[in-house]
Amino acid sequence: MVKVAPSILSADFATLGEEVRRVERAGADWVHVDVMDGQFVPNITIGPGVVRSIRPHTKLPLDVHLMIVRPENFVEAFARAGADLITIHLEASKNVAELLLQIKSLGKGAGISINPGTPFEKVLPFMEHIDLLLIMTVNPGFGGQPFMHECLDKIRQAREHVDRHHLCVEIEVDGGINAQTGKLAVQAGASVLAAGNALFGAPDMRKEISIWKRF
Ligand code: DX5
Ligand code: ZN
Repeated sequence: MVKVAPSILSADFATLGEEVRRVERAGADWVHVDVMDGQFVPNITIGPGVVRSIRPHTKLPLDVHLMIVRPENFVEAFARAGADLITIHLEASKNVAELLLQIKSLGKGAGISINPGTPFEKVLPFMEHIDLLLIMTVNPGFGGQPFMHECLDKIRQAREHVDRHHLCVEIEVDGGINAQTGKLAVQAGASVLAAGNALFGAPDMRKEISIWKRF
């Protein structure tokens, strides 16, 4: 079954604890946490302190997406704050292999994310060392942008590679996911759908998630 990871970027930050509980009640699989530093992307969101604050509000895995430069400076802080999966951007670090090892040695799942402009080939050297490949389907920085259909081919390439080599790697997509684009992404091979606006803006989040899980 497809996993669904609502992005709290679209939640009401004034009531984040309740928002996270709402996500869990709605049947989500993971809580997607977008961390932005105003340098890797042109927006700023949250730090490890917020992850620590929401941690007691849910048993769901916290899927922390680091859109920051020099992620090596923060991986340990997010791990200690209660992240379960920590994803770094391939474009943001020079020592990706070392960082993946560090994330794993902290007992966390390790992920790599790639921007729409980064080809799948760039992650090939790391595919055996990750638990999660996060394929961006918008240029990261903001919620509510339209899905870039040209990324579907990359999802297909990733799925083909994972299956051919029998790898245990989740393929997550993020950006502009809704009932239509989510279905296309799953058909292309995605196993996890991260989404902000389409889930937090849905009249009934629970109903929406149950539809997506059956794609
Ligand atoms: C974008 C973030 C996404 C964002 C998606 O930079 O990484 O996780 O929350 O938001 P929607 O689903 O609204 O495009
Ligand atoms: Zn994200």
